[in-house]
Amino acid sequence: MTEMRYRAVKGTHTRTPPFGKGGLGGIPTPSPTQLPPPCPPLEKGGREPELEASGISHRYGAKEVLADISFRIHAGEKVVLLGCNGSGKSTLLKILNGLIAPTVGRYRYQKDEITPSRLKAPDLHRRFRSEVALLFQNPDAMLFNPTVFDEIAFGPRQMGCANLDERVRHWADQVGVTAHLERPPFSLSGGEKQKVCLAALLALEPKVLLLDEPTAALDPRSTGWLVDFLSSLPITTLTTTHNLSLAPELGSRALVLGENHCLIHDGPVQALLSDMALLTAANLVHTHHHRHGNIEHRHTHVHDWQ
Ligand SMILES: Nc1ncnc2c1ncn2[C@@H]1O[C@H](COP(=O)(O)OP(=O)(O)OP(=O)(O)O)[C@@H](O)[C@H]1O
Ligand SMILES: [Mg+2]
Repeated sequence: MTEMRYRAVKGTHTRTPPFGKGGLGGIPTPSPTQLPPPCPPLEKGGREPELEASGISHRYGAKEVLADISFRIHAGEKVVLLGCNGSGKSTLLKILNGLIAPTVGRYRYQKDEITPSRLKAPDLHRRFRSEVALLFQNPDAMLFNPTVFDEIAFGPRQMGCANLDERVRHWADQVGVTAHLERPPFSLSGGEKQKVCLAALLALEPKVLLLDEPTAALDPRSTGWLVDFLSSLPITTLTTTHNLSLAPELGSRALVLGENHCLIHDGPVQALLSDMALLTAANLVHTHHHRHGNIEHRHTHVHDWQ
């Protein structure tokens, strides 16, 4: 089989699914122990960030779901985005994918400010949509083609890729959905749908992958493959997960959104994992009763349920 090289591809990608569903509810927010400082000014001659969020806040109606978020991510960085249900992770990824504009603040991709209205400019739209891809938390929000083959082929077909068949079969093989190529996507299991969505994005070979809980529906072998694969790619990834033990595998740097929708940590994943006060403030640890032999007791757990 011809080797498929992962490289940036140019072209127009017009996959614009409806927004995914968001998290619900929330537990009263404990005060964050500390807030990271806003981004310092760029040093003269310093490396330009690939993604830059500057003072981003977002509201749905009267409800604020992101509060004054600032960070920079450089090309090739692997970053994990953590936070409890409803803290604003998916909303932030939609802003970074140009699907919604922040109510306040600015988002730049490689110096270009990105909003849905600015993406109406054909050149920016073409470049941005071919270089930055979002895997939705809800695969059903992404799947709309009659077959799995067409689903994976959609992006490359929009770009007029010559090797369409080879490209589709390569990525279907990589994620393990070759047997389903002729099936309608709606008939697949949750994990199979997630793999098809992933193949559809990888077939575009973007420079930045925004992944919203990509392992949520995957079995352990598929999760292991994805972790190894993502870490081998020389591209920028920003990945959300609720699985704390996976976090260090998905990135060396963590951004954490608190229940108050502020960024309460921007730093090494390992430092986060050893900071129980911060994990508790972010509602990332759980407390429940369990049994050791005949003794039943209740304490806080940092390990994952599975
Ligand atoms: N389109 C929308 N209209 C109104 N409120 C929304 C919309 N999308 C999300 N929300 C609300 O915004 C808040 C943040 O949602 P978001 O989906 O960004 O959270 P999340 O951190 O991704 O949660 P989860 O871990 O459950 O995926 C939630 O309270 C959610 O109910
Ligand atoms: Mg979400």
